[in-house]
Amino acid sequence: MGKDVIIACDFESREKCLSFLDKFTQEKPFVKIGMELFYAEGPSIVKEIKSRGHKIFLDLKLHDIPNTVKKAMAVLSSLDVDMCNLHAGGTIAMMEAAIEGLTRPDGTRPILLAVTQLTSTSEERMKSDLLIDRPIDEVVMHYALNAKKAGLDGVVCSPLEAEKVHEVCGNDFYTVTPGIRFADGDIGDQVRVTTPEKAKKTGSDYIVVGRPITAADNPVAAYRRCLEEFL
Ligand code: C5P
Repeated sequence: MGKDVIIACDFESREKCLSFLDKFTQEKPFVKIGMELFYAEGPSIVKEIKSRGHKIFLDLKLHDIPNTVKKAMAVLSSLDVDMCNLHAGGTIAMMEAAIEGLTRPDGTRPILLAVTQLTSTSEERMKSDLLIDRPIDEVVMHYALNAKKAGLDGVVCSPLEAEKVHEVCGNDFYTVTPGIRFADGDIGDQVRVTTPEKAKKTGSDYIVVGRPITAADNPVAAYRRCLEEFL
């Protein structure tokens, strides 16, 4: 697996998602399916997009007791997704169980990533609501190291954290980074954003791009621009 641009397909229905993907007649982008589309359409949407030849990042962020996560991961693995994720806050035991559940009888498995602290959680909220009394950077790096210890392949993080994650966990530990905007684009509800070009410089392995592509007048051109800037 190498560097790539992943399109966040945050659509409410199968029809909207497939009519978006129909625009791509020459390339088969790596696609992220999140909770909205998965809960609306179920596993069949994953199978359908996969059968069209796309790689899939199934972004369901599991977090439960180890045995439940292990069994759920076995189901996701059988859908033949390429990448999935969980919350590192579920502890090393939960992450190890996830790897076990995800590993297929032939020894292969999808890439497994951890969400450390959500980028929507501020240091202030982490302290007041979660009673975690450490700088947020330290918490993010500690969770990333826990994920590495449990045998995971990388983390979802801000592009601004990617360099540090690589310093702490090694260059072969993937950083998959949302919060991407073109230099001349709208930032929408994202706060700390980076361009595809800057994400390349800070060492992101995969960038996750939603609205700059899905809401563009010409999504295929926007996707190609991301590839050009990032690869
Ligand atoms: O439209 P936009 O480019 O902001 O989409 C980014 C995607 O990445 C969305 O699917 C969002 O849920 C996801 N994401 C994020 N920030 C995180 C984790 C996931 O924006 N920390």
